[in-house]
Amino acid sequence: MPLAMFDFTLDADAPKSERYAELAASAQALIAGEPDAVANMANVAALIWLSVPGINWAGFYRAIDGELVLGPFAGKPACIRIPFGQGVCGAAAATGTTQLVEDVHAFPGHIACDAASQSELVVPIIVDGQVRAVIDLDSPHPAHFDQEDAAGFEHLATILEGIF
Ligand code: SME
Repeated sequence: MPLAMFDFTLDADAPKSERYAELAASAQALIAGEPDAVANMANVAALIWLSVPGINWAGFYRAIDGELVLGPFAGKPACIRIPFGQGVCGAAAATGTTQLVEDVHAFPGHIACDAASQSELVVPIIVDGQVRAVIDLDSPHPAHFDQEDAAGFEHLATILEGIF
């Protein structure tokens, strides 16, 4: 890939379908030809941060030896290791399914990395039947994420399978 500047601007008024199509295309462009997973997760975390309104944390946890380990992210410093099955991220990793949580305080075992977080979306990245990482998004607004957000991030997760 040639050295280039990227100019990603959030059009918060655009319909979600357009924003997620744009996010997917931008992510694809950012990771094209780059084999380093950390570099790719770092750029995609920054891209999500700029593309999704109303969030206070966006990033990755990688599945390593049966636990989740913090990866590249944007937001406040966060918990480093999360056992599979614990909290929202651990539930996504243990079940291999998206966790759409309208009220994190009502979620058993929720791990409060940032006291401001009210709702959360976690989407697993699955390669050859194995959860390799999760994408985690937090919002300070209750019930901030909906099925369209979940679908948008599930699409992004399939794009990112190739980086692991
Ligand atoms: N709230 C998450 C922990 C990760 S932080 O939100 C970044 C959870 O319960 O899994």
